[in-house]
Amino acid sequence: MKISIIGVGYVGLATGISLCLKGYTVSFYDSDKKKIKSFKRGKVPFVEEDIEETIKECLSNKNAIFADNLKEALENSNIIFLCIGTPILPEGESDLINIKNVCAELRKLVRHEVVVVIKSTVNPGDYLETKNLLSSKNFSIAVNPEFLREGSALQNALHPNRIIIGTDDEYSKKILKELYSKFESPKIFTDPMSAILIKYASNSFLAVKISFINEIANICDIVGASIDDVALGIGLDPRIGRDFLKAGIGFGGSCLPKDTKNLIRFAEKNSLSTNIVKAADIVNENQYKVVIKKLTKNLGTLENKVISVLGLSFKGGTDDLRGSVSLKLIEELKKSGVVVKAHDYLSYEKAKKIIKDIFISKDVYAVVKDADAVVIATDWKEYTKLDWEKIKELMKGNLIVDGRNLLDPKLFKKLGFVYEGIGRK
Ligand code: UDX
Repeated sequence: MKISIIGVGYVGLATGISLCLKGYTVSFYDSDKKKIKSFKRGKVPFVEEDIEETIKECLSNKNAIFADNLKEALENSNIIFLCIGTPILPEGESDLINIKNVCAELRKLVRHEVVVVIKSTVNPGDYLETKNLLSSKNFSIAVNPEFLREGSALQNALHPNRIIIGTDDEYSKKILKELYSKFESPKIFTDPMSAILIKYASNSFLAVKISFINEIANICDIVGASIDDVALGIGLDPRIGRDFLKAGIGFGGSCLPKDTKNLIRFAEKNSLSTNIVKAADIVNENQYKVVIKKLTKNLGTLENKVISVLGLSFKGGTDDLRGSVSLKLIEELKKSGVVVKAHDYLSYEKAKKIIKDIFISKDVYAVVKDADAVVIATDWKEYTKLDWEKIKELMKGNLIVDGRNLLDPKLFKKLGFVYEGIGRK
């Protein structure tokens, strides 16, 4: 079976490479020629665990092919995976322009029977539009959403906790059943709309869980309770579960914020209100302000204060700045007249292109020098291993606002810091 992957971001790459490792031949195509050139040399221009070594292995086995043009990528293909980004527009709708362009190309180029699998996240309305663009006797269409987490996408693609296939078409069902027979995960065969809603409901539910625990953390702050104990206490109920109950300054990234907003917008356009998802979005939009409150409570006015923000990526282990809460926080601090300095292990160069007027470095000790306060904005576990005694000496003040509840409060008090977590007494 020959597979084509169109759109080689972390989803397309991890999906395709996982299929190569299962023995299939996979052609990859992306309109970004620089990216393809880099993959051909075995170099991955973004950060993903295990993937660079694995690409090299697949290149030498000759079952990963990075194509220079779409025609070459589609040659003899039985299955085409659409893994093209659907970025969010200001009103909350998805930008389908790239998908539309590829669909038009597919209609021109494909002359044989093929299964087109929509892996890109499209809402029900966008799915119907895409399906319309692909209406041709050559195409059997299926929806196969991904649940990959950035950073560990390849492992997630190799061992998915479920495989969802939504199709009304017997041919697609047969081919995808065969394709995924090499994966042991539970498989759900359903209709396309249900598959789409499984994806949106999954991400919205995760968003609701995070906003819920953040709301409870804010109450913990008022009453002097401990969110760590509360989260453990509720999470041990298997009906609730312990995952995604980590309180902090809110969720970011390229998926949770986008998918929740897109679902809200889609429902609104159909005169429905998604009250719970909307509440999760509102809580998330405001959660970073808890940091400003804690800084103000301890420092008084923030004008001309030096505040070092540790972490720019939307989560630790990635260089992705999309939807990063840290960037939003920095903008707000700048508006309050703060002298902001910022650190990240991976995204510092990218961040310099977005925020031009602050000091950004990969040297954490240079960033904390003379700071009145340090804010942890990203959960880089490396921050727990820093030389905090040295940091205390370098800082002017001694306030730590731990926006990811990453550090040990007792230890930091012992070291002489004023420690503020989120919902930690
Ligand atoms: C998410 C989903 O987990 C994945 O299934 C989907 O396919 C894509 O979106 P990802 O964006 O990689 O994956 O990040 P994830 O690890 O889920 O974290 C998202 C955001 O939520 C991050 O900003 C993270 O810091 C935050 N988060 C996560 C919390 O604040 N608390 C938690 O308990 C978990």
